[in-house]
Amino acid sequence: MNRDLVIVLDFGGQYNQLVARRVRECNVYCEIYSYKTALEEIKAMNPKGIILTGGPNSCYESDSPTYTVELFKLGIPVLGLCYGAQLMQFLLGGEVKRADVREYGKIEVFVDRSSRLFENVLEKTICWMSHNDYIAKIAPGFRITAHSADCPVAAAENEAEKLYAIQFHPEVLHTQEGTKMLKNFVMNVCGCAGDWRMDSFVEESVKAIREKVGKGKVLCALSGGVDSSVAAVMLSKAVGEQLTCVFVDHGLLRKDEGDEVAVVFGPDGPYDLNFIRVNAQDRFFSKLAGVTEPEKKRKIIGEEFIRVFEEEAKKIGAVDFFVQGTIYPDVVESGKGGESETIKSHHNVGGLPKHVDFKEIIEPLRNLFKDEVRKAGLELGIPENLVFRQPFPGPGLGIRIIGEVTPEKVRIVQDADAIYREEIAKAGIADGIGQYFAALTNMRSVGVMGDERTYDYAIALRAVNTIDFMTAEAVDLPWEVLHKVTSRIINEVGHVNRVLYDVTSKPPGTIELE
Ligand code: XMP
Repeated sequence: MNRDLVIVLDFGGQYNQLVARRVRECNVYCEIYSYKTALEEIKAMNPKGIILTGGPNSCYESDSPTYTVELFKLGIPVLGLCYGAQLMQFLLGGEVKRADVREYGKIEVFVDRSSRLFENVLEKTICWMSHNDYIAKIAPGFRITAHSADCPVAAAENEAEKLYAIQFHPEVLHTQEGTKMLKNFVMNVCGCAGDWRMDSFVEESVKAIREKVGKGKVLCALSGGVDSSVAAVMLSKAVGEQLTCVFVDHGLLRKDEGDEVAVVFGPDGPYDLNFIRVNAQDRFFSKLAGVTEPEKKRKIIGEEFIRVFEEEAKKIGAVDFFVQGTIYPDVVESGKGGESETIKSHHNVGGLPKHVDFKEIIEPLRNLFKDEVRKAGLELGIPENLVFRQPFPGPGLGIRIIGEVTPEKVRIVQDADAIYREEIAKAGIADGIGQYFAALTNMRSVGVMGDERTYDYAIALRAVNTIDFMTAEAVDLPWEVLHKVTSRIINEVGHVNRVLYDVTSKPPGTIELE
C-alpha cells in the first residue's frame, strides 16, 4: 500500500497513542515507534513527517532518552511535543531549564497566527500544559510563535528547516484547537494528501488477504466481540468458505448473546464461512464449581477456553492460517513494533493455542485503533449493534459474579443486566455512557416480599465513563431510570431483593466489580 506515513517517535509520554490517533483522524496514516529506532530505519520508511512525543524525563540529563541530531537534517518536517519540543531545542543549541513552578492544566496560550501551525487558530487559545522543565532559550534559527503567562516559549519554529516545537499537548482534548494544529502540521507543513480512509483500507486488505491465502485453509477464534467479528467478516469476504470460525460459548456471555453471534455468523447469516459453535457451558461450570478467588476464576476460564478451542481445531485438522483480532493498541502495548505474539486479552488466552496446527498468523486489524476497527466493521456491513458493542471482559460474567460462579447466579445476573440495558436504551441515554452492566454481589440479606421474608441477593449496577479504561468516573444516572430498573429487577428476576448503584470511580475501584 502506497500512502503517506507520519511517524510518532515515542519518548515515553502517556499520550503517545493519542498523538497517532489524532493524526489518523486527519485521514493521515500514522505509526508509533520507539525513540530507539535507528535513523536508517526511519529514513527507509520515507515518512512525510515525524512527531516527537512528550516524556517524563529531563532532556539535559545524561541518561534521558535522546536522538541523533541528524534527525533534524533529513529535510523531513519534525514536530516536537513537550519533551520532544525541549529535546529538539536542546539538541539544536537552545537551553532547557527546570522551572520554579510546574505549569499544569488548561492554560491560556497566545499564538502567532502567521505560523503555518496556527493557521485559523484563535489568537488566545486554551491548551493543556504539563511540564516542569521549560525552554529558556530557543535554538539558533528559531522564532517564538506562542507563549503563556508562565511560559515564555509555548511554541517555536524554524520554518525554513520545517522544524516545530510545541510545549503543550495538542493531542489531548483539553487543548481546544489541538487537532487543528496537528492537522495544520500534517497537511500544511508535511503536505500529506489526507487520503487514509477506511473504505480503501478494507478494500485493499480484502484483496491482499485473498492473494496471500490463495487456496489455503483459515481458522479463526470468534468471540463475538468487535475485533474478532470484524476480522472474521473481513476474512470471509476475502476467502469465503475456506474460513472456519470456532465460537466457544462458555456460558458466561450476556443474555442471548451466544444465540446472537450464531444468528450473524451461522449458516442462515449473511456471511460465507464455516461456523462452529461449541456449547461448552457445562465444562466451564464444573471447572468453576467451588472457586471463589477472582484471579483463579480468570485463569480457569482462560485455560479451559484454550483447551476447548484446541479440541475443536484438532477435529478440523491442519490449517494454513490462523486469524487473530489483534489491534494496534495491543501491538504498541506489548512493546513490539514487529512480530506480535499477543493474542487478544479479551479471549483471555495467555498465548497462542499450542496444539493448533497452522503455518502463519493473519492479523488484519493490527494497524487499526478501536474506532477505526468499528469504522471498518461498518464498511464491511456488520450490524451496528455488533460494531458498537460495549467492552466485555474475556472471562465474561464469571468476573461479574463475586464469589463462586453457578448456573443460577449466571441466570440472575444475565436477567438483571438485560433489564438494565433495556431501560438505558429506552431512556435514550446509552450513547452518553461508556460502559454499564449489572453484577452480582455475593451478599444476601433479609427482605420482605408480599407477606414473606426473603433472604436473597443484592445486584449492583455500574455505569462509567472512561476515555482510556485506565481511569473511570461513575455516571450520574437519572433517578427515574434507577428506580425503574430497580423495580423491574426485583419484580422480574428471582432471588434478588436489593439493587445497589456503585458510584466508585477508578481508581480506587476498577470498572468491573470483582
Ligand atoms: P477494570 O475493571 O480492570 O476494567 O478497570 C477495564 C476494562 O477491561 C475489561 N476487563 C477485562 N477484559 N479480560 C478482558 O479481556 C479481563 O480479565 C478483564 N477485566 C476487565 C473491563 O470490561 C473494562 O472494559
